[in-house]
Amino acid sequence: MDAVMLVGGQGTRLRPLTMSAPKPMLPVAGVPVTAHMLARARDAGIDRVVLATSYRAEVFEEYFGDGSAHGLQLEYVTETEPMGTGGAIRNVAERLHGGPGDPVVIFNGDILAGLDIQALVARHTGTGAAVTLHLTRVVDPRAFGVVPVDDDGRVTAFLEKTPDPPTNLINAGCYVFRRSVIDTIPTGRPVSVERETFPGLLAAGTAVMGYPDDTYWLDLGTPAAFVQGSRDLVTGRMASPALPGPVGDCLVLPGAVVAADAKIGGGATVGAGAWVGAGAAIDGAVLFDGAVVEAGAVVRDSVIGRDAVIGSGVALDGVVIGDGVRIERGNELRSGARVFPGVVLSAGAVRFSSDRT
Ligand code: GDD
Ligand code: MG
Repeated sequence: MDAVMLVGGQGTRLRPLTMSAPKPMLPVAGVPVTAHMLARARDAGIDRVVLATSYRAEVFEEYFGDGSAHGLQLEYVTETEPMGTGGAIRNVAERLHGGPGDPVVIFNGDILAGLDIQALVARHTGTGAAVTLHLTRVVDPRAFGVVPVDDDGRVTAFLEKTPDPPTNLINAGCYVFRRSVIDTIPTGRPVSVERETFPGLLAAGTAVMGYPDDTYWLDLGTPAAFVQGSRDLVTGRMASPALPGPVGDCLVLPGAVVAADAKIGGGATVGAGAWVGAGAAIDGAVLFDGAVVEAGAVVRDSVIGRDAVIGSGVALDGVVIGDGVRIERGNELRSGARVFPGVVLSAGAVRFSSDRT
């Protein structure tokens, strides 16, 4: 069976991390976000995936190649201008091998989901719907596509990012399309599947089914969610065949150097070649490859970019530190602060700031 993975977004909510790598390629629990869902797709019997790329397209093929090392056949289609989610799906149509009635699974590339992919496809073929949407419940649906369904599970509306959601059931970012429906998406211009294709199918009376599901689900599009997703993979709350180590309290990748009395826990990840000094504490944080945390520093629930240096005694909680940034000793940053590449915070410059630096 064929699948498409949408990976062309800019990931602006994760800046500065997405300045050097597209969001779906940021390492979460040691491997790119997409590697986790590609492995789950493979285990569900999907053998070919077309990656719909746009922003920083080359990074995907450099990492995944033809897919053989991951047990998949992978192909890449790059949009010269971003075509939107619907435009991206339409743009890969000629690479799909199935016939007009066959199912095609589409994945958003920034999701971790415990979804039973085979069961979703079985629901789709069983009901004969044109499209079947994986749905999940969230506390605050306003940042998502809100999807009310009737008693038979049939979708009655699709309300993308609505301020006044009628239900907390949302589009979980995985769909099954009947192949022939993809061919009806217009070509040559950007199309949003959420704002145009789904509402259009519903207005035309086409059968769109929902598949509500309460397994693990997370969109990794914000720093807080990114850290949470990484912790959940490391601790096994979200199962992934791509996890590069045993489930546990932390994941320390090969080539990392950690002082014997440093405390690493809470589902933290220490990237390859990273260095953690004596008495430092890393709690639930993500250290990208080559990051350095010097003696006595405390890093909680934060993302530390590649080769960034966190000086001795620095305290970080809930922050994002860009690639190569130096935070010298005595600084304290909390609650949503982001430090962009090129910045050096000299000793003691900031205490407890939640502003952008
Ligand atoms: N190829 C390509 N081209 N991919 C794109 C483009 C594009 O122009 N625009 C976005 N994508 C990809 C992104 O890389 C991401 O993997 C996926 O499409 C969804 O884009 P996001 O930017 O993450 O959207 P969102 O999180 O605000 O909303 C979407 O996901 C929610 C669930 O997480 C929508 O589908 C919502 O309806 C849904 O609830
Ligand atoms: Mg998203």
